[in-house]
Amino acid sequence: EFVKSVNGLEKVVLREIHGSSVEVYLYGAHVTSWKNEHGEELLFISSKEIFKPPKPIRGGIPICFPQFSNLGPLELHGFARNRLWALDDDPPPLPPDVTNKVFLDLILRSTTEDLKIWPHSFEYRLRITLGPGGDLMLTSRVRNTGTDGKPFTFTFAYHTYFSVSDISEVRVEGLETLDYLDNCQKRERFTEQGDSLTFESEVDRIYLSTPTKIAVMDHEKKRTFLIRKDGLPDAVVWNPWDKKAKAMADFGDDEYKHMVCVEAAAVEKPITLKPGEEWRGRQELSVVNKLLDS
Ligand code: BG6
Repeated sequence: EFVKSVNGLEKVVLREIHGSSVEVYLYGAHVTSWKNEHGEELLFISSKEIFKPPKPIRGGIPICFPQFSNLGPLELHGFARNRLWALDDDPPPLPPDVTNKVFLDLILRSTTEDLKIWPHSFEYRLRITLGPGGDLMLTSRVRNTGTDGKPFTFTFAYHTYFSVSDISEVRVEGLETLDYLDNCQKRERFTEQGDSLTFESEVDRIYLSTPTKIAVMDHEKKRTFLIRKDGLPDAVVWNPWDKKAKAMADFGDDEYKHMVCVEAAAVEKPITLKPGEEWRGRQELSVVNKLLDS
């Protein structure tokens, strides 16, 4: 289902027979809504969001490509999140288990303008799939389409903003004892101690080589989000807390209480693609209305 949205931006709504749904803006190939079968919103979108290019959308699932954060010469988190993507009329073949799933295939190709700031030809195919239980799968395929014989390198993240009732009641499980780079402390390397991760101040960390399964537990709502990832070794955890929240124009002063970003990512070891090579990175989100062990 195609809908014209705010400022003439187009979005596609995917609905699954049990009632869950997903909304995707062609601008950024940005998932802005993911609802369970009871119609409850599972992603955070800022109430200050104005949906006006070239600003990226604050909330949902921004795609950070070809650069995560400021780890290179490009604008913060790269340019994929503020480009207009197209429907992919030549998508990759469907896997055999595709019955009862609804999906959308989008594509981004480097334009002449993009090549001026990042001189590497690529084709980026994104498949967004909503499973029968309301699971949300994002599969990215990036191909080096350059004819100059040169490899290119990129970093990446699915910058998912989960909606939570109260950040002080949230725990992230699956990152215990791992090494992380702390963005709040000049990207110094630390080791996570003991227990699951909780939030009492700004958190901005890149956890390195994590397990493929991470759980975000919302204790107040008694809800667990499960993130499964493939091809994405790292995981970024971010909550801006009060001071940073106030400094962001597209984010409400108190909204940090109601979101947490847990991002399947490839940051520490950038991905290199030779001409003709393809990389695949997948994230699968599911939710249950109880507190699960990860
Ligand atoms: C996180 C980064 O992934 O994204 C943070 O680790 C950054 O450092 C945050 O502040 C938000 O970035 P932006 O560009 O969407 O404001």
